[in-house]
Amino acid sequence: MLATESPMRDLEAIIRSRTPLIAVESNEEPQIVSLVRQIGGRLQIKAYSWTVTEGLRAFDACDQPPQSVLKSQDVLNYIKTTAKHSLFVLLDFHPYLEDALHVRYLKDIALTQAKHYSTVVLVGHTVRVPEELRPFTASFRLPLPTIEELRAIVFETAAEWGARHGQRDVQTTNKALDLLVRNLAGLTATDARRLAIKAIADDGVIAESDMPEVMRAKYELLGRDAPLSFEYETAKFSEIGGMQRLRKWLEVRKSFFAGGPQPNLDPPRGVLLLGVQGCGKSLAAKAAAGIYGVPLLRLDFGVLYNKYYGETERNLRKALETAEVMSPCVLWMDEIEKGLSTSDDDDGLSRRILGALLTWMSERRKPVFVVATANDISRLPPEMVRKGRFDEIFFVDLPSAANRRNILEIHLRKRSLDPVRFELDALTEATEGFSGSEIEQAIVSAMYTAHAQGREVSQEDLRDEVRQTRPLSVVMAEQVEALRQWAADRTVPCD
Ligand SMILES: Nc1ncnc2c1ncn2[C@@H]1O[C@H](COP(=O)(O)OP(=O)(O)OP(=O)(O)O)[C@@H](O)[C@H]1O
Ligand SMILES: [Mg+2]
Repeated sequence: MLATESPMRDLEAIIRSRTPLIAVESNEEPQIVSLVRQIGGRLQIKAYSWTVTEGLRAFDACDQPPQSVLKSQDVLNYIKTTAKHSLFVLLDFHPYLEDALHVRYLKDIALTQAKHYSTVVLVGHTVRVPEELRPFTASFRLPLPTIEELRAIVFETAAEWGARHGQRDVQTTNKALDLLVRNLAGLTATDARRLAIKAIADDGVIAESDMPEVMRAKYELLGRDAPLSFEYETAKFSEIGGMQRLRKWLEVRKSFFAGGPQPNLDPPRGVLLLGVQGCGKSLAAKAAAGIYGVPLLRLDFGVLYNKYYGETERNLRKALETAEVMSPCVLWMDEIEKGLSTSDDDDGLSRRILGALLTWMSERRKPVFVVATANDISRLPPEMVRKGRFDEIFFVDLPSAANRRNILEIHLRKRSLDPVRFELDALTEATEGFSGSEIEQAIVSAMYTAHAQGREVSQEDLRDEVRQTRPLSVVMAEQVEALRQWAADRTVPCD
């Protein structure tokens, strides 16, 4: 139904070109098997499938080998010594690609192809072709369903649900339906169907409120082996004291994420939030996803630099691909200076990663909005802050008096303390030079003190806590000043 003409033509062309090995990374096993079977028929050659449980099976019973060929090695031996002009599709063969003997068998098959003309198609969720086999291997990918095909999948799924529930109609709105279809983009037909069922099955309604769940499930399908984490908790700007200018800046661009691509408008690319520690950069990154109502994905540099040498670039590619498929989304790169500071002792790896990331940032077309944070400019690669990488570089400074007051209120309320019980003017003044995080900590500690004495927290508890705190802006006065100086003519204040 969805197997359009073209994947068939493409795979057939590879087979005709006499490439001995074809690697197919896909979870659409039945569709691939069916393609191989049909191509075998069209080219009038014998075609077989193999799995570890069923052994070797010919699609046409007349071609079945006289003896059963069950083991992985036996099937390779059969292809190498007995088969002629045949097509083999080996399912879930990837574990054997880690074994030297199997690899050698496949290489033998490849090297002697000019004599026996057989082709081996390796299918699996992931197929990592060992170095030795790469020169003989072509890879093939099933094209993903188009938007129209996805729409058809949603309609079919809805019809099936209706039929099973006494001809009840699935309820939806055009907007919710469009959103669902758009959010299924990038998935295979099987996965798209699975998520459509998930959206419908609980209540027979496709609603906009189903989308966060759909996106979460989509991430589960796609992102698990990428160095990305799906952040379940986003934030609201109402939880942040200050940053009004940043908030406005983000809000102006909101329609881009809510209404899909806009003609004549360049997609917003992202912002760099640079600033003093503990002043809410990470919080603001979460709030950006909150404003846009899209998934928040965090690129984890720790996982990116994988223990396996040579895997890092593949990991980055995979992460960026996943982010694109999850788009529209916010891609949060926290503390980029730690992940990207280039050092000379890693064979140029961090340089290459930086290069790959910068290239992607300038070329990406999908609405992946990057929010990067950094607080140590000395380790930040200069290329990163050059004009044009980010739409804007915002500076997150220590909070002003008005913002400190706001932060006090937010964190008191968060802990069910009524701000009117406290003399906020005095606390605002006493917390000069404090970061948001330090203000929060003072409230938390004061509450502990009071709790230990079995009473409610008082103005004096807070005042004492504040007095005892030596804020970073004092302890690290020079660094903070240097950061401000640097930022003065390169960045925009976020308030
Ligand atoms: N402007 C603010 N408004 C409200 N809460 C704040 C603010 N700034 C900091 N906080 C509180 O401090 C916590 C830590 O802040 P956050 O992690 O966002 O700072 P950061 O700038 O990312 O710091 P770092 O540079 O150390 O990563 C926040 O979770 C929040 O509870
Ligand atoms: Mg942070």
